[in-house]
Amino acid sequence: MKGIILAGGSGSRLYPLTLVTSKQLLPIYDKPMIYYPLSVLMMAKIRDILIISTPTDLPRFKALLGDGSKFGIRLSYAKQDKPEGLAQAFIIGKKFIGKDACALILGDNIFYGAGLINHLENSVRRAERYNRSTIYGYYVDNPTRYGVIELDKDNNPVHIEEKPKHPKSNYCVTGIYFYPNDVVKMVNKVKKSARGEYEITTLNNLYLDQKRTHMTLLGRGYSWLDTGTHDALNDASNYVQMIEQHQGIKMACPEEIAYVNKWINKSTLIKIAKSMSKNDYGDHLLKVANGKIIYASSVRDER
Ligand code: TTP
Repeated sequence: MKGIILAGGSGSRLYPLTLVTSKQLLPIYDKPMIYYPLSVLMMAKIRDILIISTPTDLPRFKALLGDGSKFGIRLSYAKQDKPEGLAQAFIIGKKFIGKDACALILGDNIFYGAGLINHLENSVRRAERYNRSTIYGYYVDNPTRYGVIELDKDNNPVHIEEKPKHPKSNYCVTGIYFYPNDVVKMVNKVKKSARGEYEITTLNNLYLDQKRTHMTLLGRGYSWLDTGTHDALNDASNYVQMIEQHQGIKMACPEEIAYVNKWINKSTLIKIAKSMSKNDYGDHLLKVANGKIIYASSVRDER
């Protein structure tokens, strides 16, 4: 399974913040925004990741993340000359995807909640073994701003409508998607919409029409945050700060995920931790390296 992070766009709702900086490099409390979606792909055990951004911003992502070896992953980079829609990721990424299934995550989306890893792993399996796509649904009070999922009587997804005036449900499609390998062919059927974009909704509807889509519902206990406006950006930082301070642990540290996945060893983790030893981030990585944090997945839950 390959993964793509779409980290371009114009970020115009965040002006003047994004006049000279990419939105996905802005801080969400203690780390750059892109660490959050990157961590999600790594939690899905995806090690081959393509970062797509604007020609201007791409060098900054490379400077931050390099070839990915410090996280035990392989990072590639590609430019999107103009923001012509989310589905364009699969046109730009065709060669990178090759013969594999592929996940797409938006560079400004944050997902958090216990059990997320299981959902992610199931989505990978569904794409690789069963040739089916997965979308993630989330309840919202204001569905007219989103891609809204129409459900049948058993709550299976049947169709998605982009920013409908009269939404058929309160469930919207979030910014993470998993597809089998034929996504590289399916995307050729997506024509540009009236607003000049290759719409991810059109692509998702092609899979829905073929009854090849599963909706994973992120219910109570999950947070999905989009960070596209000043308030949403600030809320996301406050949310991360609150979770990290209450729980005493950190969210979305790629180094930690790499270590837990056994993609980097203890001495590498300690080296990285010591290079950041003047702050909580480095302290957290040291706690991880020294076995102070127990992971739920490693605790037996029998009898
Ligand atoms: P949006 O939030 O829809 O767009 P944007 O980031 O350009 O912001 P604004 O509306 O304020 O101008 O995009 C969602 C995510 O997808 C975001 O991470 C940017 C990314 N994106 C691309 O990388 N390329 C694209 O063509 C589009 C439409 C979005």
